[in-house]
Amino acid sequence: MDKLSLFSLLLLLSSAVASAITTDEADLLIRQVVSDGEDDLLDADHHFSLFKTKFGKTYATQEEHDYRLSIFKANLRQAKRHQLLDPSAVHGVTKFSDLTAAEFQRTRLGLKRLKLPTDARKAPILPTNDLPTDFDWREHGAVTGVKDQGSCGSCWSFSATGALEGAHFLSTGELVSLSEQQLVDCDHECDPEQYGSCDSGCNGGLMNNAFEYALKAGGLELEKDYPYTGKDGRTCKFDKSKIAAKVSNFSVVSLDEDQIAANLVKNGPLAVGINAAFMQTYIGGVSCPYICSKRNLDHGVLLVGFGSAGYSIIRFKEKPYWIIKNSWGESWGEDGYYKICRGRNICGVDSMVSTVAAIHTSAQ
Ligand SMILES: *[C@@H]1O[C@H](CO)[C@@H](O)[C@H](O)[C@H]1NC(C)=O
Repeated sequence: MDKLSLFSLLLLLSSAVASAITTDEADLLIRQVVSDGEDDLLDADHHFSLFKTKFGKTYATQEEHDYRLSIFKANLRQAKRHQLLDPSAVHGVTKFSDLTAAEFQRTRLGLKRLKLPTDARKAPILPTNDLPTDFDWREHGAVTGVKDQGSCGSCWSFSATGALEGAHFLSTGELVSLSEQQLVDCDHECDPEQYGSCDSGCNGGLMNNAFEYALKAGGLELEKDYPYTGKDGRTCKFDKSKIAAKVSNFSVVSLDEDQIAANLVKNGPLAVGINAAFMQTYIGGVSCPYICSKRNLDHGVLLVGFGSAGYSIIRFKEKPYWIIKNSWGESWGEDGYYKICRGRNICGVDSMVSTVAAIHTSAQ
């Protein structure tokens, strides 16, 4: 294909893709890799150099560079497979394209693969007759900016703080950013009989354990008073006099999409577990893969809303979706967010949902 026809193909593609997805020429080239069926367009070395520039990647040795290039190539093929399995989303090169699946699993996720305690308190059943068709807590000021867990399996702590930030906003009218590092450093004790295993910082945890910790410890400090380092093994520096938000109670929401929506609207953003299989290559759009296990929940995220408008590809226009806040920085996904389709418990998104309430208290 010559340069001119490649360029017009890119133009065509760019108009087919959502306006929500920001575009520049490099992005288009990168996306093209997985949009086109021809293998000769898989000029991996070229795309690798674009990738390195875009995400500021450097490697210490030539050996490391070549190793990362080989992983990058495998991830290009993976993105291509994901694009076929998940046509309503856009898959391609992301800032995680030089990580193996195992590295990604270990350092960017962190939800312990555990069952919720059987005696977990269940959320009361709410009326669902006048649920809105679209709802987004970001528009109501209940959601802080997108954070970045870095190279640490602490997703669970971000999911938990996000839910408590929302609950605190609902009870006080004040949006504050809460400390994940407090959870990473201090939340290690639990009753293994009841929970199976306790939270362990960068090695994973569960949102409900974190709520239990916050309830017992008295609350969470502000992000700025107990800042995130993304490092494990630090001693707990929790200072009770700096508590900014307190948990009043929390409960588990039933596996029912209307109940999930009703709890979201009533109580604020919800802590949810998800199978992150399609997230390493996700760029934008609504992820609705044909095949995605409902059981392998390995990532804790925050459900902030739902909708059906603004869909990226015309033929899937009416498919409803959940809006999910992730903790991989704004340079991942749609400004740090993920959309996943609603209706079939895709990737287990409805399987582990918790809602939390905060005590009315004022942050300093
Ligand atoms: C907290 O407890 C109240 C009173 O029992 C209940 O109505 C509410 O649903 C609970 N909230 C959460 C988030 O669990």
